[in-house]
Amino acid sequence: MMRIGVLASGSGSNLQAILDACASGAVPAQVAVVVCNVAGAGALQRAEKAGVPAVLLAHGQYPTRDAYDAELVALLRKHGVQLVCLAGFMRLITPVLLSAFQNRILNIHPSLLPAYPGMHAVRQALAAGARVSGCTVHMVDEGTDSGPIVIQAAVPVLDGDTEETLAARILVQEHRCYPRAISLLAQGRVALEGRRVRVQAKPGDPTRTLSSPELFD
Ligand code: GRF
Repeated sequence: MMRIGVLASGSGSNLQAILDACASGAVPAQVAVVVCNVAGAGALQRAEKAGVPAVLLAHGQYPTRDAYDAELVALLRKHGVQLVCLAGFMRLITPVLLSAFQNRILNIHPSLLPAYPGMHAVRQALAAGARVSGCTVHMVDEGTDSGPIVIQAAVPVLDGDTEETLAARILVQEHRCYPRAISLLAQGRVALEGRRVRVQAKPGDPTRTLSSPELFD
């Protein structure tokens, strides 16, 4: 069973989707630890309710980002974490964390990357007049929301959408995509070809890879 560490800063609805999918057996993984940098965040309460170790690691107490990430790495290792999932973790991560978990860090972003990286992705999509947006689960590299894409879902932008209504519609898809992406990784079905992810139909079998719609079978 793959051991996951989830890093979050906010309400933790993606964390909840991951916890639920692990508990139901839909995802062959277990959340080993949840780390949060914001005191009182909903994510901490959700972890505690699920009986998962929940750690508050307040960044104010560390002199540098590197020092913070070194502590994070130590904590994740202590819990035997094999895959790190950023779920609304509002901090830039450094090479200290990246190099400790190479190609083993996932992030979820509320747009169809590479469109609208960075902050306020939903606001950016609305401002651009996009008719379609969505969400992306990707591997984390040194850039901002720039790593190899694992799974995406499209979401229509409707007339009259506000940032709140569109974000809520995208969030529904996030909750579907994130557990699915983790499941694929946990099954060893995600292969990297340069910067491109290939999802294998069967673990270890490179002869057939799945296209996007098939990922949701
Ligand atoms: C999500 O929209 C995610 O895409 C973004 O932050 C939000 C986290 O929401 N990076 P939650 O804390 O999982 O509810």
